[in-house]
Amino acid sequence: MTAHPKLRHDERAFPDVASVAMALQPSYPVYCLRPRMLQATARHFIETFPGEVLYAVKCNPHRLVLDALYRAGIRQFDVASLPEIAQIAESWGEAVCHFMHPVKSRAAIASAYKVYGVRSFAVDHADELRKVIEETDGATDLTITVRLATPPVEGVVFHLASKFGASVEEATEIVKAADERGLATGLSFHVGSQCRNPAAYALGLRRVGAVIAGSGVAPRIVDVGGGFPADYVGHAAPALERFAETVRAGLREIGLGPAVTVFAEPGRALVAAGCSLLVQVQLRKGSQLYINDGIYGSLSEFQKGALMPGARLIRLGGGASERLEDFALGGPTCDSEDVLQGSYRLPADVREGDWIELDGVGAYSNAMASHFNGFHPDTFVEVYDEPPARAP
Ligand SMILES: Cc1ncc(COP(=O)(O)O)c(C=O)c1O
Repeated sequence: MTAHPKLRHDERAFPDVASVAMALQPSYPVYCLRPRMLQATARHFIETFPGEVLYAVKCNPHRLVLDALYRAGIRQFDVASLPEIAQIAESWGEAVCHFMHPVKSRAAIASAYKVYGVRSFAVDHADELRKVIEETDGATDLTITVRLATPPVEGVVFHLASKFGASVEEATEIVKAADERGLATGLSFHVGSQCRNPAAYALGLRRVGAVIAGSGVAPRIVDVGGGFPADYVGHAAPALERFAETVRAGLREIGLGPAVTVFAEPGRALVAAGCSLLVQVQLRKGSQLYINDGIYGSLSEFQKGALMPGARLIRLGGGASERLEDFALGGPTCDSEDVLQGSYRLPADVREGDWIELDGVGAYSNAMASHFNGFHPDTFVEVYDEPPARAP
């Protein structure tokens, strides 16, 4: 939590975002976290998904976010690095970390195992399995989860399989090698982030089935990864129940019984909606607005236009025009790439000094913000309103 001079400890919680604007009159971007919403979303996921729910820390590692998820019942974490492991381990002794990055430094593997007691590691190549075995001194108390590549499917915004994931044939060999060393095995995949197509999970599970059939090894874990969608403008997320039903059916199809533990490791679906961003208009040039955060800060996901956050004007004292017009939003850096794709519908008389609340920025925002041009958004407040339902 950043201590901003205007933000004393007892002033972090606000009844709504207008109160944040009123109290702080911030010329800097402010993340408005809604802990109640984060908790409700996590509880819904835990209740709906047919298995155990790990949170993908990389998506938003802010302390307040992790606290809200922990309070909601999340006890297992998908971690990508040693600093993430340290953060979780130092917060909650009983939390379980799964080191799900398929490519890790040897030092990170050794420290994860020897210092932090991590026993669950993902790999997608035989050489990575060898590294894990060597760096854990041939430990036999490991679970090795082999990550499979998934085919590109319609309805996925960010594909990940071009970088990670073994073929069915490669995965079969890695599973056999791990099994021969007496290690428990798992199989995982990631369909890509912001996946609105439940069928993608069915395809992944079929590949899991092919590896089980080919290796003859019963997995201890089947991990369907993240990818579950959140709501954005024009990108309403299908109900989580549809994804859960597809996963259930996919598990039945490949004959997996109760002995297998099923994991999901969502990031975006747990945290996107529970955080908005309050930005200020610093200059208007016709239909172009210059705001104080952009693609090098909290808003990198909105550069390419596949996703757009909802936008709502906040003017102290009200009185904004009811007529809406389309505006382009540019970020604060000198780079001409620093613009959000697409048009944002805002009151026609929006002007310098107004604030704009951008919705659903809890995922991959603060986690990816740089210091480019000296800007670094890092002010967080808690807001306890129920955000209005916005038409996607
Ligand atoms: C291994 C792994 N698991 C889970 C996630 C979370 O994905 P999402 O935010 O799409 O749910 C990611 C994201 O990159 C990932 O790499």
